[in-house]
Amino acid sequence: MTTLTPVLSDNWDRPDSFTLEGYRADGGYRALRKALAMEPEAIVDLVKQSGLRGRGGAGFPTGMKWGFLPADNPKPRYLVVNADESEPGTCKDIPLMLANPHSLVEGVAIASYAIKSSQAFIYVRGEVVHVIRRLRKAVADAYAAGLLGKDILGTGFDLDVVVHAGAGAYICGEETALLDSLEGYRGQPRLKPPFPAVAGLYASPTVVNNVESIASVPGIILGGAEWFTSMGTEKSAGFGFFSLSGHVTTPGQYEAPLGITLRELLDMAGGIRAGHRLKFWTPGGSSTPIFTEEHLDTPLDFESVGAAGSMLGTRALQIFDETTCVVRAVGRWIAFYAHESCGKCTPCREGNFWMVQVLDRLERGEGTEADLDKLLDICDNLLGRSFCALGDGATSPVMSSIKHFRQEYIDHVEKGGCPFDHARSTLWA
Ligand code: NAI
Ligand code: SF4
Repeated sequence: MTTLTPVLSDNWDRPDSFTLEGYRADGGYRALRKALAMEPEAIVDLVKQSGLRGRGGAGFPTGMKWGFLPADNPKPRYLVVNADESEPGTCKDIPLMLANPHSLVEGVAIASYAIKSSQAFIYVRGEVVHVIRRLRKAVADAYAAGLLGKDILGTGFDLDVVVHAGAGAYICGEETALLDSLEGYRGQPRLKPPFPAVAGLYASPTVVNNVESIASVPGIILGGAEWFTSMGTEKSAGFGFFSLSGHVTTPGQYEAPLGITLRELLDMAGGIRAGHRLKFWTPGGSSTPIFTEEHLDTPLDFESVGAAGSMLGTRALQIFDETTCVVRAVGRWIAFYAHESCGKCTPCREGNFWMVQVLDRLERGEGTEADLDKLLDICDNLLGRSFCALGDGATSPVMSSIKHFRQEYIDHVEKGGCPFDHARSTLWA
C-alpha cells in the first residue's frame, strides 16, 4: 500500500507556514546555505542524478534542461518560474504558493545559483491576486533577511527576483508565450527551436521551470539524489501533488510518490461521493485523454499513464461520477480552449470554434451521428498541425470520450438531446 510523502505540504498544518519565521522553524533556507557552499555544476549534477522531471506537465528532466544553457554565450542568463497555472482541473501550484511560498523562493535562489543567473522572474497567473500578494511579501521578507539581493548569506552571490502578474490568458502558460508576455508583447507562442535554453527571455539563455519543480529542489539538496529516487518509479522519480477534484468525498492535494494509483488515492480521499460510482476521470487535466474505471490501477507515473493511452500531465485528477454527461463535460472544456486559443494558427483557432458548435448542437438534440465523424475529422486536422500544445491538447478529451463513450454521443442523437438531468444552457454559458 503506497502512503503519502508530505514534503512540500509537510508544514501546511502550521498556521504560520507561509511566513519566513514559520518556514525557518521547520528548517527552511538550510538548503540554500548548503547549496551556496557547493559548486554550481555540482548542483546541476545532483538534480540530474535525482531524476527530477518537470512538474508542469511535460515531464522534461529538470537537470538536463539546466545543462542545456550554452557555456559560450556571454549574454545574461535568466530563470523564469512558470506560475501561470490555468489548466482546467489543475490546482497544485496555487495552494503551494499560498501555504509554502518560501519553498519556491528558496528553490529560485538555489536554481539561479546553479545556472549562474542573477535575475529571476516568477510569472504568476493574473487572477490570483491573493497569491501574488503572498509571494511578493515572501520575496520582500527574503530580501530583508539577506536571502535575496546582494551578497546572499555573505557568499558574494547576487540575485534579484521579480514577481510578475500576468493578465489572465491561459496561453501565457505556454513557455514562449509567457516570455513574450514578460517582455511586454502580446502573449503568443514562438517557434521552437530555438528552445528558451538557447534563446529565451530577451533572446538570452533562459531556464523556464514550473513552480513545483523549483520548490522540489531544496529537498533534493538536503536529502540527496538517493532520497529522491527512493520514491516513485525508476523513470519517474520522487513525489508530486495529485490534485483530486470533482465527485470525490474529500477533494484536495495529496502529495504522494509518482506511481501511486487512483484506487489508492481514492481510498485516502474517502472514495467517490456517497451513493455514486466512478464514470470517467482525467489523469492530468483536461488536455489529457480521459480514463475510466478500467484505469483505476494504472500507476500514475509518466511511462505507465502513457502506455495506457493518456498523459500524466499536471496530475490534476478530475473525478466524474455517473450523473455527469460526458458530452457536456467535454463541450465545456472545448469552449474553454476555443476561448483561450490565441488565434495564431488556423487549425486551433477554427477547429476549436467548430468543435464547440458541433458539441453544442449534440447537447441541444440537433446533432446527427455524422457529427461524431466530423469531430474526429476536426481533431485529425488539429493534432500535430497546431503551432503549440494548446491545439493538440484540445483533441484529447474529444477523441478519448468518443472512444470510451461512443454510445452516449449516439444517445444524444437518438433521444433528441442530452439524456442527463442538468440545466439547459449553451456550452458558452
Ligand atoms: P515540451 O515537451 O515541448 O517541452 C517541455 C520542456 O522541455 C520545455 O521547457 C522545453 O523548452 C524543454 N525542451 C524540450 N526539448 C528541448 C530541447 N531539445 N532542448 C532544450 N529544451 C527542450 O512541452 P510544453 O509544450 O512546454 O508543455 C506541454 C505540457 O504542459 C503538457 O504536457 C501539459 O500537461 C502541460 N500544461 C500545463 C498547464 C498548467 O496549467 N500547468 C497548462 C497547459 C498545459
Ligand atoms: Fe495559438 Fe492555438 Fe495555435 Fe497555440 S495552437 S499558437 S494557442 S492558435
